[in-house]
Amino acid sequence: MSLKSCCIYTTGVSSLLLLIAGIALVLSGVFTHFLQSRVKKEVVLRNGTEAFEAWRNPPAPIYMQFYFFNLTNPLEVLDGDRPAVVEIGPYTYREYRPMEEVNFLENGTKVTAVNTKTYIFQRDMSRGPESDLIRTVNIPAVTVMEQFKNQSFFANLISSYMKSLDEGLFTTRTVGELLWGYEDELLKALKAMKPELDDVFGLFYKNNGSNDGEYVFFTGKQNYKDFARVDTWNGESSLSWWTSDDCNMINGTNGASFHPVVSKNDLLYMFSSDLCRSLYAEYVEDAEVKGLPAYRFVPPSKVFANHTENPANAGFCVPAWNCLGSGVLNVSPCKQGAPIIMSSPHFYQADQQYVKGVFGMKPNKERHQTTIDINPLTGIILQAAKRLQVNVFVEKVSAFSQTGDVRSVILPVVHLNESVVIDDASVKKLRVIILEANVVVNIPFMLIAVGILLGGVFMLLMCRRVPEGTSDERQPLLQS
Ligand SMILES: *[C@@H]1O[C@H](CO)[C@@H](O)[C@H](O)[C@H]1NC(C)=O
Ligand SMILES: *[C@@H]1O[C@H](CO)[C@@H](O)[C@H](O)[C@H]1NC(C)=O
Ligand SMILES: *[C@@H]1O[C@H](CO)[C@@H](O)[C@H](O)[C@H]1NC(C)=O
Ligand SMILES: *[C@@H]1O[C@H](CO)[C@@H](O)[C@H](O)[C@H]1NC(C)=O
Ligand SMILES: *[C@@H]1O[C@H](CO)[C@@H](O)[C@H](O)[C@H]1NC(C)=O
Ligand SMILES: *[C@@H]1O[C@H](CO)[C@@H](O)[C@H](O)[C@H]1NC(C)=O
Repeated sequence: MSLKSCCIYTTGVSSLLLLIAGIALVLSGVFTHFLQSRVKKEVVLRNGTEAFEAWRNPPAPIYMQFYFFNLTNPLEVLDGDRPAVVEIGPYTYREYRPMEEVNFLENGTKVTAVNTKTYIFQRDMSRGPESDLIRTVNIPAVTVMEQFKNQSFFANLISSYMKSLDEGLFTTRTVGELLWGYEDELLKALKAMKPELDDVFGLFYKNNGSNDGEYVFFTGKQNYKDFARVDTWNGESSLSWWTSDDCNMINGTNGASFHPVVSKNDLLYMFSSDLCRSLYAEYVEDAEVKGLPAYRFVPPSKVFANHTENPANAGFCVPAWNCLGSGVLNVSPCKQGAPIIMSSPHFYQADQQYVKGVFGMKPNKERHQTTIDINPLTGIILQAAKRLQVNVFVEKVSAFSQTGDVRSVILPVVHLNESVVIDDASVKKLRVIILEANVVVNIPFMLIAVGILLGGVFMLLMCRRVPEGTSDERQPLLQS
């Protein structure tokens, strides 16, 4: 064999080997596995890892925006008309939420922490100052009236005291008071009898600069799927407000971090202490945030469906016989008996009776659904928006003339949008990781490409080796 043909055959064999190797590697997914196992090892809550730093002190700016509902027809509502509201907002706060009192336990498999949240008002990102006035339902009064509705003696006493204070079913307060607290005369009077009561009321009273209790998280050292998963909250591994074990489960993370290597089939579980329950989000579509690839996860309507549509939700009926329609959650057991009902903003995805029950509701998917855009390889949240609405259940209580002839209605007070978009420094870091990942994952395809190239060269050389004569013989064939 001449040196030339030896060369040709070497090319052919190499091409074949590269193709086989490349295809075998693609099919076995070795490089993908290698990459994923490296990420799984890296994304652990361990002193010194980037994942730990990002978990302890989230680098991206978080904003909390409040939109209030100003009631426009209080007198008509007391006569039994449908309430009409106007949405007013946003009132925007920058939210800081570092993990504090961090301590590793059990050989680094668990970590305890409290999540301290601080809110700083952003006047330039708000519709007006915190001193804007909002007319809404008088939540302390409604809570007291609900509590004493069957005790006519006390009800009469309280009712006449409320008249002397000129307190009614509705109240006009500033945004700052409604959120961060104001002294309420009625509560003050009750406090005189029961000193353990608090005479200040606010939707976020005592939430600034404080935390919602002690968490124990798994670090993900043993299993990457356990990264930042809640083990216990305030020393408990389940809740006690609901009427079934499934509903009382604390599932998933606190919603601010998720495990790496997310697939489209994963359900992302999270526990929300604001919502007093766990829930999950599922994959809906691919997305892109600042040029980075993401999977968009959204809680399906099934999560908030009523018990006929989703029997697993029967445990959220409190008391057990009192089931509400889809899309609303009675959280009074976890709000000291206040008749608070949580929902999506504008009753998005809730039963139409609630949307129609209040004039001014305009549910909208883009503006009102909760979304999480997550980078599938690293599990880093690229963009998220948690959206909730706080409502109050209002009904006529005959012992209290203050309630007039009001119809039973779930009246929205405020809706909030807690959102985050990844910061540019993190985008830069993540871009490098994703680029490296793409290179590693594409090595088998590069082998295949080189194999094909060599194969082409081989063919070319083979054709050129064919003796001159044979090509002449082809002429008649082509002409026939
Ligand atoms: C992490 O390591 C630093 C420096 O070694 C140390 O000061 C810090 O206390 C450690 N943090 C935790 C939570 O163990
Ligand atoms: C929350 O607390 C911080 C620091 O204590 C303070 O600067 C900020 O104004 C407070 N925010 C509100 C809304 O009261
Ligand atoms: C809300 O309604 C009240 C009563 O009509 C009004 O005084 C107040 O200015 C309204 N608030 C805003 C921010 O428009
Ligand atoms: C109030 O009384 C009604 C009927 O008299 C009863 O069905 C209801 O359970 C009572 N509610 C409370 C809170 O005691
Ligand atoms: C928690 O997860 C389990 C399955 O892992 C499920 O059966 C249960 O319904 C979940 N609970 C909540 C409140 O999401
Ligand atoms: C539950 O929701 C479905 C669909 O919206 C509705 O047909 C059904 O009447 C609801 N059941 C209850 C008890 O509200």
